[in-house]
Order: sequence, then structure tokens, then C-alpha cells
Amino acid sequence: MSAGPAALAQPVPDTLAGCLIFASAVWTGGLVTIFVVARVARRTLGPRERVAFFRGLGRAYGPVGGAALVVAVGCGAALLSGHAWDGTLIVATVVTASLVAVTAAGVAQARRMTRLRQAALRQPGNPVLAGRVRWAAVRAAALRTAIAGLSLALIALGVLLAP
Ligand code: HEM
Repeated sequence: MSAGPAALAQPVPDTLAGCLIFASAVWTGGLVTIFVVARVARRTLGPRERVAFFRGLGRAYGPVGGAALVVAVGCGAALLSGHAWDGTLIVATVVTASLVAVTAAGVAQARRMTRLRQAALRQPGNPVLAGRVRWAAVRAAALRTAIAGLSLALIALGVLLAP
């Protein structure tokens, strides 16, 4: 069966929409999976193994999640290039910029956190290091919650902006 003129009428937007859906699925699925994995890892791994595990997971997932975010933002921007700069598009742009910035801050913070946890494991009785780990963990949790919240907000804005 050959594709008729209607099926070929919008090949570029359709391809961009497909890439946007795929990249958003990878990004969102990755986030949800890491939250679930983190719960299981807390229950099943000792402190030393946990640090090594998340170091490996973070480094392996970083390029995958980063690429998904870049593709999703690029396809979304291309699809909306002819859209009027109304309030929804301005909010979506601010939320996207915040998501990219908070994700970059989260990755940098996670790397510092790994180093801090390794130092605390080398000096188990050090109360100063233990306190710094506690505060850094609160900041890391806040950044991860912000990444999840901004991602959900962007999906909702994408629905509002879809033609
Ligand atoms: C936006 C997606 C994310 C990216 C790109 C990412 C990437 C990273 C990177 C690069 C590291 C540092 C690895 C190293 O030591 O070099 C890391 C560590 C870590 N990540 Fe993620 N991550 C993401 C989301 C999450 C989420 C949603 C959680 C949920 C709990 C999480 C939990 C952790 C933990 C527990 C560590 C170890 C450092 C610590 O103890 O805080 N990550 N991640």
C-alpha cells in the first residue's frame, strides 16, 4: 500500500513530533526509574556499594538523559518555531531553561556528593563530614524534586501548546 498525499503532507513536523515523544519518554521513564532504583538500592546495598553503584549509574545515565533532553528541547523548539510568543510559550521557555539549568546543577552537585560520601566513608567518626553529607543530601533531594516537577510542568505546557 502506498502513502497517499495526505500521509506525506507533513513529513517534517510528524518526524519532529515522533522524536519529541520518544525523547520525552526516555527522559521521563529514566527519571521515574532512577527514583525507583534509588529506593531499592537504599534497602539492599551497604553504604560503600551504594556510592559505587550510583557513581556508575549516574555516569552511565548522564549522557543518555542529557541526549534525550537535548533532542526533546530541540524538536519542541523546531515544532513551535512558527508559534506566536504568547504567555504559554514564554512560560514554557522559562521552564525549559530552568530544567536545563537545574539538571546541570543537579549533576554537578551529585558529583560533589559522591566525593563527600567517599570522604565520610574513609572517616566514619568525623561529625563535620557527617553533617556536610546530611545537608548535601537535602540539597540533592531538592534538586531532584525540582527536576521532576519542572519535567511534569513542561509536559503539561507541551499539551497546552500542541496544535
Ligand atoms: C536528570 C537526571 C539525572 C542525571 C543526568 C543524573 C546524573 C548523575 C551523575 C552524573 C551522578 C554523579 C556520579 C559521579 O559520582 O560521577 C549522579 C549521582 C547520583 N544520582 Fe543522579 N542523575 C539524575 C537523576 C537522579 C534522580 C532522579 C535520582 C533520585 C534519587 C538520582 C540519584 C543519584 C544518587 C543517589 C547519586 C549519588 C550521589 C548521592 O549520593 O547523592 N539521580 N547522578
